[in-house]
Amino acid sequence: MNPSPANYSRITGTGSHLPPGRVSNADLAARLAADGIETSDAWIVERTGIKARHFADAGAQTSDLAVHAARHALEAAGCRPEQIDLLIVATSTPDMIFPSTACIVQRKLGMHGGAAFDVQAVCTGFVYALAMADSMIRTGLATRALVIGAEVFSRILDFKDRTTCVLFGDGAGAVVLEASDTPGVLASELHADGRHVGILCVPGQVAGGQVTGDPFLRMDGQAVFKLAVGVLDSVSRSVLAKAGRTADSVRWLVPHQANIRIMQSAARKLGLPADRVVVTVDEQGNTSAASIPLALDTAVRGGRIARGDSVLLQGVGGGFTWGAVLLDF
Ligand code: ACO
Repeated sequence: MNPSPANYSRITGTGSHLPPGRVSNADLAARLAADGIETSDAWIVERTGIKARHFADAGAQTSDLAVHAARHALEAAGCRPEQIDLLIVATSTPDMIFPSTACIVQRKLGMHGGAAFDVQAVCTGFVYALAMADSMIRTGLATRALVIGAEVFSRILDFKDRTTCVLFGDGAGAVVLEASDTPGVLASELHADGRHVGILCVPGQVAGGQVTGDPFLRMDGQAVFKLAVGVLDSVSRSVLAKAGRTADSVRWLVPHQANIRIMQSAARKLGLPADRVVVTVDEQGNTSAASIPLALDTAVRGGRIARGDSVLLQGVGGGFTWGAVLLDF
C-alpha cells in the first residue's frame, strides 16, 4: 500500500559538492591559447560574471559528485539512506546511457528498493525533479525523497569553441524532501517549448558502436538570453499568484546560475534588490541541473537562508524548458 498522502513536502536538509579542480578564467585562457584560441578574464567576467569553475578529474563520474552531495544532505536532515523511498537525479551528463544515474547513486549509497530515476530537463532539471518529488509525496507515492542535481558538463564542452566552453562547470547539489504537516513547497510550475530544441543542444547520438553527429554542446547565446529573461519573469509571477504571495514577500531568489546578467535582469523585473539574490556563478560557473541546489546549499550553510524564509527557485535551460518552485524553507 502507498504511504498516506501528505499535506505538504518540506526540505529537511541540503548538501553540495564541487570537484577539487578549480579552473580560473586565467587558467582557462592559457589552456585555450595553447590551441590558438583567444579569450580573457575581462571578457568572461564582463559578459557572464564568471571568475572560475570546477572541473572533475577524468575518473570522476556524475554519480560520484552526486553521492558526495547526497551524503551532506542526508546528514543535514538527520536521515539514513535506507529511510529514502524516492531518489531522483536531474542530469544531462549521466554516467551511462542506461541504467539511470539515480540507480547508480542508489547502489553507491547502499540503498535499494525505493523508486529511482533520472530527469532530463537540462538546466531546469532540478526544478522539474523537485516539483515531481513534491507531487509524489503529496499523493502518497513516497514519504522521503532525495532530490539531486549533478553534472560533469566539462565532458561535453568543445574547448575549441570559446563562446560556450568558458560558461560551464561541474558539481552536484542535493536536498532531502519529506512529507510534512507544515509548508513546505507552496507552488510549482513547469514548462517546455520544443520549438526551440536547436538553440541549446548536444546533437550527437550513439549508434552502431560510435558517436554519430556532433557530441558537443552548441548554443545560440543571444536567443537563449532573450527567451530566458521573458519566461523566468512570467513563471515566477505565476507561482507567486498560485501561492497567493507577492514578489516583495520573497526573501531569497535562487535562480539557475546561467549568467549574472540573466539573473540580475530576472531579479530587476520582479523588483527584488541584488542582496536578495543568491549568486554562486562567479565561483562555480553554470553547472546546469546542479546549479540551483548548489546555490541553495551554499546560502544555507553560509547562514543566509534560514528556517521559515520564503525562497523562489527559478530554472531555465535547453529544450527549451523553464519552471519555478516557491517554498518556505
Ligand atoms: N572570449 C572573448 N571573446 C569572445 C568569447 C570569449 N570567450 N566568446 C565570444 N567572443 C566574441 C565573439 O566572437 C564576438 O566577437 P565579434 O564581435 O568579433 O564577432 C563578440 O565576443 C561578441 O559575441 P556575442 O556572442 O555577440 O557575445 P554576447 O554579448 O552575446 O555574449 C554570451 C555571449 C555571454 C553567451 C551571451 O549571449 C549570453 O549571456 N547568453 C545567454 C546564454 C547563457 O547564459 N547560456 C548559458 C547556458 S544556457 C542556460 O543555462 C539557460
